[in-house]
Amino acid sequence: MAAGIDDIAIYIPRLFVDARDFAKARGMDPDKLQRGLGVSKMAIVDTNQDPACMAANACLRLMERNKISPKDVGRLYVATESSLDESKAMNSYVIGMLEQIYGDGSFEHCGGIECKFACVSGSYALYDNSNWIRAGEAEGKYAIVVVSDIAKYDLGSSGEYTQGAGAVAMLLNDNPRIMTFDPKITSTSIKNEYDFYRPFGKETPIVHGQYSNLLYMIQIKKALMTYKEKALSSGLIKLNEGETILDYIDFVNMHLPYSNMGKKALAYLLRHEWRNLPRWKKIIDKMGMQEPIPKDPRGTIESVLADEEFMQKDHQFTKIFTMTEEFQEIYDSKLASSLIASRMVGNLYTASLYMGFRSCLEFEFQKGTDLEEKRFGFGSYGSGSSAMVFSGRIMPTYKEMVRDMNLESEIGNRIKISLEEYEEIHENKRGPTENILDSKKEFVLVEIENKPEMRGQRTYVFRE
Ligand code: COA
Repeated sequence: MAAGIDDIAIYIPRLFVDARDFAKARGMDPDKLQRGLGVSKMAIVDTNQDPACMAANACLRLMERNKISPKDVGRLYVATESSLDESKAMNSYVIGMLEQIYGDGSFEHCGGIECKFACVSGSYALYDNSNWIRAGEAEGKYAIVVVSDIAKYDLGSSGEYTQGAGAVAMLLNDNPRIMTFDPKITSTSIKNEYDFYRPFGKETPIVHGQYSNLLYMIQIKKALMTYKEKALSSGLIKLNEGETILDYIDFVNMHLPYSNMGKKALAYLLRHEWRNLPRWKKIIDKMGMQEPIPKDPRGTIESVLADEEFMQKDHQFTKIFTMTEEFQEIYDSKLASSLIASRMVGNLYTASLYMGFRSCLEFEFQKGTDLEEKRFGFGSYGSGSSAMVFSGRIMPTYKEMVRDMNLESEIGNRIKISLEEYEEIHENKRGPTENILDSKKEFVLVEIENKPEMRGQRTYVFRE
């Protein structure tokens, strides 16, 4: 039985910080944010929004636009790394909100859990729910997987300029109108690491940014190698002499902690895949530079990062490589459209990869590209750390789903906030009712209980 993505809905908070204002306030060159990292706006949650209500809002949009009632949904999973409770799962909050619309107990039959593994957990949730469908357990019902997060870093830290917030809800079934996942080739890689983590009680993560970037690329490369073995042994893809697996992936969607990470990761994977092919010699000749090798080629990530001479040369090599027409052609045709949304909203942790997929669908459609039967490859990464590589093919019916996708109008009227307002929200100086925006047709948080026997209980309402 097939399984895949039938539809996608998004929810992005309307408040944002402009990268230029941010750079000015922090005494930074705005070009570092806009050109160096690909950040132009960071979506920020209002005081009356949290990851659960963003998830519920994305879910409601998904259900309304597909005229689905709760009885059609067999599973509702939420993947997040912005958990609200050590025990109570975020999907229960979401169901509580949805039942305000659909009636008390309307989701009683619907199973689900909250999933955690930094930014990769949404991909595990998609995989597990696809397998629930493939196993025939769904009995004609949909699974909904929602990825929802607030990417929040310490004030003044190097992660602060890669913040953002939002949710993506995905409808899965056995006859999907957008994409069918390729079967039996989803591949993973996993290792105990501390590149980025958030200890209990801490609101912001401890981040080793450069270490994490390199680990991300290494882990995805490992998962890609397993994907390649499975794709070749299953006969899904056949390689001719001088070809790479990436030649058979029409569009590449990468996890995007910031927009330019997609480009960095693509360059890394292409270097790895092209290095032993005849085409590489031509590129190296044109570049006029040999690929640098670290002093200790079998060393650790730490030893590679500490090898300053290598790092500097490797940075230069990557820069020159990304300017070659061979790289540019792949970048423009396979990756660029997926990076647009990230530039507009920032990091969404679990939701970043899927916002990138949404972005690619919308902007390729606008370009007039025919996506039918095209293969999308996904590189999902979660710190701590695990990577997942999988793929799917676009269904002939995708056009009717993608035609109306419009990021700007779906986000709605965006409001730029001052750095003072942003810092007040960041430092939790405003309570839930001291919100900036008037909300319409969405769930908002109105109270968090403080009495000892009810501590942490959250009340949400739907604003008409
Ligand atoms: N104009 C244009 N580009 C500039 C620039 C300027 N004035 N100044 C710097 N840049 C470029 C750099 O060359 C670099 O480009 P490169 O990636 O191609 O090398 C880029 O901007 C970033 O600069 P860098 O000095 O590496 O940034 P940083 O040390 O301030 O930190 C991150 C960048 C991404 C490591 C940091 O923001 C971070 O840790 N973010 C969080 C990431 C995360 O959470 N990861 C875990 C989950 S995947």
